Amino acid sequence: MKRTEIAELFRLDPKEDFPVQVAGWVKTSRESKNLAFIEINDGSCFKNLQVIIEANKFSGDNYKALANAPIGASVLVSGQLLVTPGAKQPFEVNADEAEIIGGVEEGYPLQKNKMSTEYLRQYPHLRARTNTFGAAFRVRSETSYAIHKFFHDNGFVYVHTPLITGSDAEGAGAMFQVTALDLDDLPRDEQGKIDYAQDFFGCETHLTVSGQLEGESMAQAFGKIYTFGPTFRAERSNTTRHAAEFWMIEPEMAFSDLNDYMNTAEAMVKYCVSYLLENCPDELQFFNRFFDKNLIEKLSKVVASDFVRLPYTKAIELLEPHNDEFEYKVFWGCDLQSEHERYLTEKIYDCPVFVTDYPKEIKAFYMRLNEDGKTVAAADLLVPGIGELVGGSQREERTDVLIARMQELGMDLSSYQQYLDLRRFGSTKHAGFGLGFERFLMYVTGINNIRDVQLYPRTFGTL
Ligand code: 4AD
Ligand code: MG
Repeated sequence: MKRTEIAELFRLDPKEDFPVQVAGWVKTSRESKNLAFIEINDGSCFKNLQVIIEANKFSGDNYKALANAPIGASVLVSGQLLVTPGAKQPFEVNADEAEIIGGVEEGYPLQKNKMSTEYLRQYPHLRARTNTFGAAFRVRSETSYAIHKFFHDNGFVYVHTPLITGSDAEGAGAMFQVTALDLDDLPRDEQGKIDYAQDFFGCETHLTVSGQLEGESMAQAFGKIYTFGPTFRAERSNTTRHAAEFWMIEPEMAFSDLNDYMNTAEAMVKYCVSYLLENCPDELQFFNRFFDKNLIEKLSKVVASDFVRLPYTKAIELLEPHNDEFEYKVFWGCDLQSEHERYLTEKIYDCPVFVTDYPKEIKAFYMRLNEDGKTVAAADLLVPGIGELVGGSQREERTDVLIARMQELGMDLSSYQQYLDLRRFGSTKHAGFGLGFERFLMYVTGINNIRDVQLYPRTFGTL
């Protein structure tokens, strides 16, 4: 008999009994009077399947082993699917044959009682078998699909930008160096500096912090593109929202301005949230129950309401009266700290907020200078519980203004020649943004630590 996945059984929504073969890992097992109940999960869906083992159908030893099947053991079962109207589960399987395929040796760290996410972080290779991480990683997969679907359906071309680069896309210097040089025996030039001409690529290289600059070159050919891949930041920020390796979605659109970016980002967030509400109801209900009691209500509201758009200058006016509540005082020109971002989006608005037109000094070199000469056409999307979810801007498409800004910042123009070429050859008004994938997952699950939405988290000080 061919094995049927548990998800398939739920999809079939059976109205009568039939023979099946199923397999899975034991979630719980219990015994009462010559009858054992084993709940199994095969990873195909959030739901478990109950298997009934009747003592009289099995040899004594075999029955004992099954009735005491340890959590985590893998089992193969053939038997009769019985519809059970009115019971907790719509159906169960009464086993005719059952075997433990893979037993569990002593020291298995997952137990039936509730385990903290901190405890489970010690076992990244096993934790996906728990309800919490099973749900988190399925939502991660479903969200990836929704993102691709959104962009594909809207005519965006998916591009793969390099992970090893020779330029700093954010100009912020928080990069991991890539080298094949022998660190114990570095080659030196005449001035005693490390001679990168002898390194693997013949120059100094790093892991990318963003695919934006290469993405811009593709947008200048395809009009609308997006990247979706890993990025790396050597920021020494040990917070619940910073990872050293995280995934980013970076759309870039030619013939577009700041408003076009905000409209696209808002539509994308809403699309993904409604996709999840529709396609991950079991997972979201689980998170609603154990992580954030208002999760589903909050997500439904996100889909239905308009995001606020608020100029930075106005945001400062709104925040200044609350300075006594902040660790870092707010003033025009300051970078918004996460406490300020959360105050705006949680206390003042209680919904997603785009803060726009930041002072140029606190933003990246490529953002388009506004008419006032002081602010840039940038916008960050802030959301309750997280703070910054999206960062983006209209890009400086004027060669002279861009070069002047880069020089002002003391940047080495030689590693940005191709980027500048995009302005010299058929420049367009264009805009784009980056959405932090893990932050989005935290937002839609209510999980409050970035370490718990990544399979193997890489954060400052831990690998
Ligand atoms: O605001 P950021 O630094 O913007 C860029 O990298 C632009 N190049 C994007 C673009 O316009 N194409 O990063 C974008 C988003 C942030 O809003 C945040 O959600 C996420 O990436 N992010 C991080 N997520 C996890 N850990 C970190 N260390 C992150 N740094 C940024
Ligand atoms: Mg940012």
